[in-house]
Amino acid sequence: MRSRLLQSSTFRLSLLYTVIFAVSVFGPFAFIYDETVSSIDREINAAIDAETRGLMTDLERMGGAGLIDVVNERTADPADLDAIYFLADRDKRPLAGNLIEWPRNGVQEGRWYLFEIEAVEGGRETSHHIRSRIEVIPGPYFLLVGRDIHERDKVRNTVRRAVGWALALALGLGIPGGVLMSRRVLGRVDRIAETARQINEGDLSRRMDVGDSGDEFDRLSESLNAMLDRIDRLMTGMRTVSDSVAHDLRSPLTHLRNRIEQALREARDTDDYRKALRAALSDTDRVLTMFNALMTVARAEADMGRQEMERVDLGQVAAGVVELYEPLVEERGMEIAASIAPDAMVRGHRQLLAQAIANLVDNAIKYSPSGERIALTVAVEGAEIRLTVADSGPGIAADSREQALGRFVRLAGRETPGYGLGLSLVAAVAQLHRATLLLEDNTPGLRAVLVLTHA
Ligand SMILES: Nc1ncnc2c1ncn2[C@@H]1O[C@H](COP(=O)(O)OP(=O)(O)O)[C@@H](O)[C@H]1O
Ligand SMILES: [Mg+2]
Repeated sequence: MRSRLLQSSTFRLSLLYTVIFAVSVFGPFAFIYDETVSSIDREINAAIDAETRGLMTDLERMGGAGLIDVVNERTADPADLDAIYFLADRDKRPLAGNLIEWPRNGVQEGRWYLFEIEAVEGGRETSHHIRSRIEVIPGPYFLLVGRDIHERDKVRNTVRRAVGWALALALGLGIPGGVLMSRRVLGRVDRIAETARQINEGDLSRRMDVGDSGDEFDRLSESLNAMLDRIDRLMTGMRTVSDSVAHDLRSPLTHLRNRIEQALREARDTDDYRKALRAALSDTDRVLTMFNALMTVARAEADMGRQEMERVDLGQVAAGVVELYEPLVEERGMEIAASIAPDAMVRGHRQLLAQAIANLVDNAIKYSPSGERIALTVAVEGAEIRLTVADSGPGIAADSREQALGRFVRLAGRETPGYGLGLSLVAAVAQLHRATLLLEDNTPGLRAVLVLTHA
């Protein structure tokens, strides 16, 4: 877990952000610190220099004894406790000033001499830093002018503490925050990976969990699920094609085979052979029709053929079908009334749409008594195109309509030829076109409606 955490990009990112954040906090603080401290330093230095110059002028004017008086006067002034003066003789023994003795273990830094003194502050003994300048002068020999810089040290320490806290806060919040975040993210990636593994191991119905936050992971899971669904549909489609073809073509093929075998065994003259061949031919036609219908349904159900879609005038397609069925309609003493709106454009598969409409018209003819009238309309209704095929035959009982869409389902009228594949083809084509297929009561008869989107 630990190495995984370190490997995870989110963790590395959050670490990087923490560092950037820390630097961006530290940078300005360091600048403020430097500016504050050095400006205070400049002021202190200037004050020491001015003081020294003043005392040197006093020395010139009044001599050594006069300087001792001035220093004593100044050290007696309670207004400026931070000012340090010390006048010493050649052996650095005190002559005047507010230090007890000459500072010994200070550090020389350029023209500045830095040392520490013990001071009592609010009853507590503390050590203060002093910055000072030493002049070697005639007479009393040594003049030290300095400043107690503990105020400056206080400011410096305050700023340093603030920087320290800011940094600690940045790191203290950034790192655990990053770890928490990456745990969460890792957890979700893990769940997706785990689901993918289960799917890979054969549980093809498994899907990724999708939360309701709509974040990147939900979107990823959604598109993975959509992809799995599509693969599933394609596979089911393929399986159904092979299953149906294998299952449903076996008996007509066996039938065909038996017929041929029988002819070979029993036929005596050319006439017998001719008869057998004709029967075999019609068996073969049956098989081919079924095969084609099955393939079309399965392909449409598996969403194949969407890439062959184009802008199609549904009215034109319907008119073509009507024309095709005209002879059959006449033959049965029927009439087909077509009412077709112009420019009924849809995005669709021309050939499959024609096949679907043909199946509806075919059913209307097949299941209506002769002499009846069939109505076919194509209407544009706002964003919808509605294609309706209505007859006044027996219709389909409301509770059987869903069932009628199934493959190889034949309800009443078994004496009419058919394989029970017509409506399943219409349903598959509707699904392929994201269209709705409605079977309604035409009182009497069946009204089949295909609702497509206007393109
Ligand atoms: N227009 C219709 N009127 C009455 N029944 C119908 C109509 N269309 C379809 N059906 C019923 O639905 C069943 C399924 O139709 P279909 O899938 O086209 O198969 P088929 O026409 O080969 O029997 C039919 O067997 C029939 O009983
Ligand atoms: Mg049919």
